[in-house]
Amino acid sequence: MRVLVRHEEIVDICKKLGAQLTKDYAGKQPLVACVLKGACPFHSELIKHIDLDIEVDYIHVSSYKGTESTGTVVFKKDFDIDITGKDLIIVEDIVDTGVTLSTLKPILESKGISSLKFVSMLDKPSKRKVEFKPDYVGKTIEDLFVIGFGLDLDEKYRNLKDIYVYNED
Ligand code: IMP
Repeated sequence: MRVLVRHEEIVDICKKLGAQLTKDYAGKQPLVACVLKGACPFHSELIKHIDLDIEVDYIHVSSYKGTESTGTVVFKKDFDIDITGKDLIIVEDIVDTGVTLSTLKPILESKGISSLKFVSMLDKPSKRKVEFKPDYVGKTIEDLFVIGFGLDLDEKYRNLKDIYVYNED
């Protein structure tokens, strides 16, 4: 399998994004939430590089794609922390069709938060079915199925430290 993003590059991406978030949220104490399970390794690395008094939480959502562009999101695990009034940063592994995060967005916005931004380690804009633009992106990639560093295929490969292109011919 071809390595697409080496571990060192992922760490560099986290350093860069962490520095940007540190700057953008200066004077604030954002709640940096990880979307389980795929974003776990990325979130863990990213938060090391945010030099602020942040809070951390974990959510697990399932999205069901509807007939058209819309979807439904079910919380398999909701926030432990009360998010009212928080500056919320949602950390995701990859944005593909955009259905998951575009569906999640209005749900979160209805919960009385102060602000909401989305960070994604990878972005596949060519695969979009609905309009969604993450506020912070680690790396934009082509239409490839990738595994490793949290990204899975049927729950496997999440533990790989680099990101690979799966079964490329
Ligand atoms: P979407 O943006 O709603 O289509 O879904 C995003 C989710 O699909 C991500 O959080 C991943 O769990 C999964 N996903 C999309 N593309 C890939 C990939 O290339 N490898 C592994 N998982 C992927």
